[in-house]
Amino acid sequence: MLQLSSLSDIRQHTGLLRQQGQRIGFVPTMGALHEGHLSLIRAAKQQNDVTVCSVFVNPAQFNNPEDFRLYPRLLEKDAQLLAQEGCDVLFAPAAEEMYRQKPKLSFDFGDLERVMEGAHRPGHFNGVATVVSKLFHLVQPHQAFFGQKDLQQFAIIQQLVLDLSFDLELVCYPIIREEDGLAMSSRNRRLTPEQRALAPHLYQALQLLQKSLKNHSVEEAKKETEAFLRQIPEIRLEYLEVVHAQTLQPLREVSGKVPVALCLAAFLGEVRLIDNLLL
Ligand code: PAF
Repeated sequence: MLQLSSLSDIRQHTGLLRQQGQRIGFVPTMGALHEGHLSLIRAAKQQNDVTVCSVFVNPAQFNNPEDFRLYPRLLEKDAQLLAQEGCDVLFAPAAEEMYRQKPKLSFDFGDLERVMEGAHRPGHFNGVATVVSKLFHLVQPHQAFFGQKDLQQFAIIQQLVLDLSFDLELVCYPIIREEDGLAMSSRNRRLTPEQRALAPHLYQALQLLQKSLKNHSVEEAKKETEAFLRQIPEIRLEYLEVVHAQTLQPLREVSGKVPVALCLAAFLGEVRLIDNLLL
């Protein structure tokens, strides 16, 4: 596996691949890779000639400096895993290389970012859109793969690709869960054993909400689910939403006429986790 860290090297390499008519599949990540990322690498490999993975803990998308400081960084282990999966190129730039100067451009995705993650993490999607735009320009992929766990991020990136006419196909892959239902996330590594044992309640809450919506209004079903989570004092719910799965705007009722997503964010100690369920 080729490992590159400079902007000019990756641009030159993928430019050459394109000239040779090779299809490039791209998996952007922040590293600390788990089975969820590896499922994206496998999909990229299956559908393309060359697979590129980026590992870059993007300072611009962290609204909480402690979260950035404590984000797991395991580049050597990541490189091993990627090589085992047959990834062709690992692009892992330093922050000073990626941001030689502070970007002046900023993004505003309107209603799409006024809810959930965007509402609770000011500046987060501006940072995501900035780095993803840079990566798309550098890697020049034909396809880019993302996980459904970051549902709102995927919607934002779809809008970015539309608005800026990036010539690539976006692919979203389902959430990969641990056996006990916890959605895989690089942040799970930061949970203490006690927090890890409680974390599956988040998925259980989404399942309860799904069940409750069959017989109750959105308001009642949310109340029941919030009460379920309140029984575990170690879990601090930040939001629980029933939304339109594409516009991500809150729904007052679930009629079966529009696609629905159930989304939540919660803290276990200082670790913030998100999860969602598509109905
Ligand atoms: O989903 C992530 O890991 C990150 O937000 C991404 C898309 C790699 C941008 O930094």
